[in-house]
Amino acid sequence: MSDYRESIRKERPLDEQLPIYQPDIIVLPTAEEVDQCAADTIIQQIRSKPDSILTLPTGSTPKGVYQLLVDAYRTTNLDFSQLTIFNLDEYWPIPHQHPSSYAYYMMENLYRHVNVNPSNIHIPRGDAPDAHIEAQRYEELLKQHSPVDLAVLGIGPGTTCHIGFNEKGSELNSRVRCMPLDVETRQTNSAFFTNPNELPEGAITQGIANILEAQNIVLIAKGPAKAWGIHRALTGEINADAPASFLRNHPNVTVILDQEAAQLLE
Ligand code: PGA
Repeated sequence: MSDYRESIRKERPLDEQLPIYQPDIIVLPTAEEVDQCAADTIIQQIRSKPDSILTLPTGSTPKGVYQLLVDAYRTTNLDFSQLTIFNLDEYWPIPHQHPSSYAYYMMENLYRHVNVNPSNIHIPRGDAPDAHIEAQRYEELLKQHSPVDLAVLGIGPGTTCHIGFNEKGSELNSRVRCMPLDVETRQTNSAFFTNPNELPEGAITQGIANILEAQNIVLIAKGPAKAWGIHRALTGEINADAPASFLRNHPNVTVILDQEAAQLLE
């Protein structure tokens, strides 16, 4: 765990000012309607361009969305076979088969249920011996397939305001790298480990710059734990104190919220 912290310390704000855009904000009465709306967006993307490049997230937020995608595969033959999928992030270090790894999560919640081509699935290797080298490999792979057509994101709970594992301090020009998990993230995410002490120290994540290179971005947030972060990201200053705020530097962002997550917005 020696060298990756060095690259984080080097993150610097960009000197140039980027244009600021107003995301489309969709507020729906229930979490189920948020899932359906997000799933419909992804389904429409796949149907209109079957060989789309997607970035997909993990966490509790997209579980219902993935179930709806699996349902669409089973009931309407939604075809995943030509897609290329990049996962947003993965813990590091973590064994590939660890039940709390994001590789395992994606397999269980989506990949093993649909006809996605295994060679078109890309997830940072949590078991790579060197996080820095693995981050470079993933960056290179993303570059080869760039641009991503649609990036789907969640947002961190509480005051983390992270997207992927771009914790506070992540800059607009950050690229794939291994981030140490911040204290608030550690508190939340240790609950996803049977033994909380097994929570890894860091995660390999797409950077803010990688995320913003997608043609279209959808951010999903549900529940009261997301209200502060959504309000901060959509109405506060655009800076590395709230990495999700950088989404306002992208012209094609849709934010899909339930009423609880939207409760602090006007
Ligand atoms: P969650 O995680 O979907 O489990 O709330 C989102 C995140 O931490 O980015």
